[in-house]
Amino acid sequence: MPNFIINGGKKLKGTIEVKGAKNAALKAFGAALLTSQDVVIKNVPEVEDIRRMVELLENLGVKVRHPEESQYVVTAKKINTYIINPEIAKKLRASIILAAPLLVRLGKVTFPHPGGCVIGERPIDVFIDGFKALGARIDHGENLYTISAKKLKGAKFVFPNISVTGTEALMMAACFAEGETILKNCACEPEVVSLAYFLNSCGAKVEGAGTPYIWVKGIKNLNGGEYNTIPDRIEAGSFAILAAATRSHIKIKNCNPEHLDCLLGIFDRAGIKVKLGKDFVEVFPSKEIRSLSIRTREYPGFPTDLQAPFCVLLTQTTGQVLVHETVYEGRLNWTNELKRMGADILSLDPHRIEIKGPSILRGREIESPDLRAGMAYIVAALCANGESIIGNVYQVDRGYEKIEERLQKIGADIRRI
Ligand code: EPU
Repeated sequence: MPNFIINGGKKLKGTIEVKGAKNAALKAFGAALLTSQDVVIKNVPEVEDIRRMVELLENLGVKVRHPEESQYVVTAKKINTYIINPEIAKKLRASIILAAPLLVRLGKVTFPHPGGCVIGERPIDVFIDGFKALGARIDHGENLYTISAKKLKGAKFVFPNISVTGTEALMMAACFAEGETILKNCACEPEVVSLAYFLNSCGAKVEGAGTPYIWVKGIKNLNGGEYNTIPDRIEAGSFAILAAATRSHIKIKNCNPEHLDCLLGIFDRAGIKVKLGKDFVEVFPSKEIRSLSIRTREYPGFPTDLQAPFCVLLTQTTGQVLVHETVYEGRLNWTNELKRMGADILSLDPHRIEIKGPSILRGREIESPDLRAGMAYIVAALCANGESIIGNVYQVDRGYEKIEERLQKIGADIRRI
């Protein structure tokens, strides 16, 4: 298993390009199973989670071509089985998105509890209850769920918790439910909006995506089409945070600054100088940055996926503040290692920590527990004095394409060994 060797403490400089959002592209691969026609998916990041998704599709008998870098063509003319491969599904939370198209196409789907990052409990009750509301029957064996329905029926469903993949799954299923479906308390993330836009471009009738109320009118068939993956707002935000934390001048290109409004508002209040364009964010070095408390929220609030790198930034800013992780109960555990690097962190409970800055971080040997914490350790190692070794690089490769090569181009001393 490779490691990253990082020598930190240097300023970075240059331009870094943002790839397509894996959390958007993954859902497009799922949506491609709703039609028997070709779906072209563009601007796909070449990351491990996408490879697992392709394996899942191929395992179902779906044809997936990869004619050029970052472009895939999915043809689900035939789907051979309603069973989502449990071994692969356990590696990928997004595997659950396939439940909706398989239920629609085959009338039945069997899957395990999906895996993914170890950041909390991650239940799937909203999927189960949502499919039930649309008229499906649920059987729960020892390790597998089976959902079946000859025909889905439009209904009203109110999400008890706001769920991104839950909203996307029910929106897809509702496209084929007879009559109208009203979904309330929906996730408003740009990935949801992008999926709805794609479904509509193929002939679906979805309205309201991007607001808490989504209205879907059932259709009989969906055409093929083209999906252009939106820029990865989490990658863009992580690079902006890296620039601020290392007091570097970095231009982050090919992103959508509108998707980063909450982070950029915090930057402004913290005194971090930024220039914005239509598709770029340029961060300038700031001598002293004020610490600010954050509370993770659903979009458009502060994203839980940026909590980890932002905590690293807070070790490099002035003040004592609270970080409240409201979405996942296990998503602050990674900060124990950050403490060992020299950060002044007080754990209050599983959801809250206090960070006092600035601190001088020291390089260390660290294992990446999950994707976003892995990125945060990279940011911490680039801020730290001395050498760090980051293990379990697979976690980082799940979501960030060739991260070391792109960081090298802006002057980072990072190698994959
Ligand atoms: N939840 C439930 N029941 C459910 C589903 C979710 O209680 O049936 C709870 C979760 O436990 C959590 C909250 O609802 O507390 C939000 O979870 P959500 O369902 O929105 O998360 P997700 O759709 O599984 C996506 C991203 C995550 C990101 C979250 C929140 C994908 C593949 N994953 O997860 O991304 O953290 O939304 O924005 O889209 C990552 O990329 O590192 C990552 C974990």
